[in-house]
Amino acid sequence: MRVKVLMVCLGNICRSPLAEGILKAKVDPNKVFVDSAGTSNYHIGSSPDPRSIQIAAKYNIDITNQRGRQFTQKDFEDFDLIFAMDNSNYKNIVQQAKNETDKEKVHLILNKLTPEEDLDVPDPYYGGVMGFENVYKMLDEATDVIVKEISIL
Ligand code: 4NP
Repeated sequence: MRVKVLMVCLGNICRSPLAEGILKAKVDPNKVFVDSAGTSNYHIGSSPDPRSIQIAAKYNIDITNQRGRQFTQKDFEDFDLIFAMDNSNYKNIVQQAKNETDKEKVHLILNKLTPEEDLDVPDPYYGGVMGFENVYKMLDEATDVIVKEISIL
């Protein structure tokens, strides 16, 4: 079975493109399909934020080919696991769920690191480069846990 994982933030230009790129770099593409989306329509068709591109490149990950897209209800059919970057996006996604099966696919990504604490990956959009470095580290650690969990599915 090929596991399909979707990373979701608000704009799909800062956090979720990084999460997508980092997880992709850790898995066999034949076994795991990774994509990302935003709950908003603000940046449909846009490249990732240059600061996300820069941080990813620092760790030898190329995310320049990604383009922003908006989360849709169809994503519940297309994906097995949906990771929200923060509580606001989590709520937005769950509100679009059609049933319990859909809801059970949605997780706050940082609960993989700190279970049940419901922590947000902070939105780095209005901050400096250090915000992106911080986001990278969180996502690197969280995706390590996701890789372990997927490997025993
Ligand atoms: P992201 O960051 O959700 O991590 O992609 C944001 C990018 C853009 C905006 C907000 C958050 N915006 O308001 O345009």
